[in-house]
Amino acid sequence: MAESNIIIENNDSIRTITINRPKQLNALNSQTINELSEALKDAEKENSVKAIILTGSGEKAFVAGADIKEFASFSVEEGKKLSKEGHDKLFDLAQNLSTPIIAAINGFALGGGLELAMSAHIRVASDNAKMGLPEVSLGVIPGYGGTQRLAQLVGRGKAMEMIATAGMISADDAHNWGLVNHVTTPEGLLEQCNKIAGKIVKNSSSAISLAIIAVNANYVDGVDGFATEIQEFGNCFGTDDFKEGTTAFIERRKANFK
Ligand code: CAA
Repeated sequence: MAESNIIIENNDSIRTITINRPKQLNALNSQTINELSEALKDAEKENSVKAIILTGSGEKAFVAGADIKEFASFSVEEGKKLSKEGHDKLFDLAQNLSTPIIAAINGFALGGGLELAMSAHIRVASDNAKMGLPEVSLGVIPGYGGTQRLAQLVGRGKAMEMIATAGMISADDAHNWGLVNHVTTPEGLLEQCNKIAGKIVKNSSSAISLAIIAVNANYVDGVDGFATEIQEFGNCFGTDDFKEGTTAFIERRKANFK
């Protein structure tokens, strides 16, 4: 069996998943995509995991993109299949995962790497990170959701510029553009992500999972986000967490969510 391309570590209810192909700048080959897909599904199934941090190994890259060497000789049909399977197995899965994912962008996040970070719910970058969608320099377009998610995050004009120039932007520009939530030193990156995750895990996991559905509903064609919010708000009232959260407030104590 091939060696695993990811490392999984648990710290209380926070699971860190590290993409571990540093010599290839953590490029996403099909094995890594499959392993990440399984790891996210496993984390979602485990009640003890309440937040996920996703990062890359080594000092240079989060993920430098889809594995160019793997797809360089693909046909039109194989290209479509690569993109569709990526969307289904990993990128849509991540965006819709009921467990929140924080991308800790520790270096290059290019092409499929930035697309992976954009599929996460929250992004934090180290100040040496570089982000871009350089696909058109290879004669291809972003194929793991980048044309859609980048425009959603930074607006159509900036997305068009990043995609058409194939350029990279700094962590500070990414922060100013709203592409990442925070910028830290490289040494402080995981600490900052764990701090955010630490706040998340104190709250109701069931409410967070329903909030993810409601927020994401805005980006699904033909779905009314407000109607989804009404539906999911109502569903909260049937959960144990709602009973515990409201009772704890009335009893003037901290909620103890199971
Ligand atoms: N795919 C495959 N291998 C990659 C890779 C990628 N996306 N990015 C880097 N590597 C490999 C390099 O080939 C090299 O391997 P070897 O030592 O075996 O030759 C190793 O990682 C180190 O890379 P470099 O020597 O190039 O490192 P550098 O510091 O000189 O440059 C870099 C760093 C600017 C990130 C450069 O590696 C680079 O431009 N990488 C490609 C970035 C890219 O175009 N990404 C988009 C991919 S296409 C995509 O993602 C499609 C999609 O949307 C689905």
